[in-house]
Amino acid sequence: MTERDCAVNAAKEAADVILSFHHQRASLQTNFKGPRDLVTNADVASEKTIISIIKESFPTDQILAEEGHHASSVAEGRWWIIDPIDGTTNFAHGFPIFCVSIGFWIDGVPQLGVVYDVMSDECFVAEKGKGATCNGIKIQVSKTTDLSQSLIATGFPYHEFRSSEPYLSVFKHFLEHARSVRRPGAATYDLCAVAAGRFDGFYEFGLQAWDVGAAGLIVQEAGGIVTNWAGGEQWLFSNKVVAGNPIIHEEIRKILETYIPEEVLFSPTMDGSS
Ligand code: IPD
Ligand code: CA
Ligand code: CA
Repeated sequence: MTERDCAVNAAKEAADVILSFHHQRASLQTNFKGPRDLVTNADVASEKTIISIIKESFPTDQILAEEGHHASSVAEGRWWIIDPIDGTTNFAHGFPIFCVSIGFWIDGVPQLGVVYDVMSDECFVAEKGKGATCNGIKIQVSKTTDLSQSLIATGFPYHEFRSSEPYLSVFKHFLEHARSVRRPGAATYDLCAVAAGRFDGFYEFGLQAWDVGAAGLIVQEAGGIVTNWAGGEQWLFSNKVVAGNPIIHEEIRKILETYIPEEVLFSPTMDGSS
């Protein structure tokens, strides 16, 4: 089985597991990883399903997954990067935007990204050098060049509220200068929506490798740009990600540079500490 077939199959099997919890909400158990950071038994069951499918075909590959397989580097070897439910808060509240995300990297380079939007039945797939698709149809980033005609997406962190002031200044700028701002609640969806030209750009801090490990490649293969907030190409573990069509990506980056202190731009935290 190819990595692509394996990932698509695993994402769809996991989506079935998630849907069974969604339709029997009495069976849903929610726990807290932090004061507002939820995890449900559906997250755990989804992750187990995905890993067992991947391990059947690729038993020696390494796994980075949100609910039990953390790692701080994928620089060497074959790595699967998994978010079993992206948008857990949405899922726990029955708000219908949540995705399964599976990325595959070799020696620190993204090879494959699959994001499956469970409720809309949209499967976003990209392979390095082969473009990006949604349900088999080629997708591309938007051609919007003017911020005033752009729909911008962002996310709000669940923790790490130090230095939220500069973040709010950035938010205010887009509120006043973009067409509008959206916060769907699933970073993988936000990035795929950039890839599909629905959003012109996206920025967020507090993101983890499993939030961006698949969808970052989907944006790139759709003709978009993904960087960290400082404009560097190391976005997987950067915590701060900006994506968009090439023009709007640069517009957002300039605004981040204007409002966010330099030590924060280059740091993996929001107050510049390490
Ligand atoms: C979260 C979502 C959300 C983003 C958070 C993520 P989770 O992922 O992607 O949109 O704002 O930063 O943690 O916890 O639902 O997998
Ligand atoms: Ca996530
Ligand atoms: Ca998750």
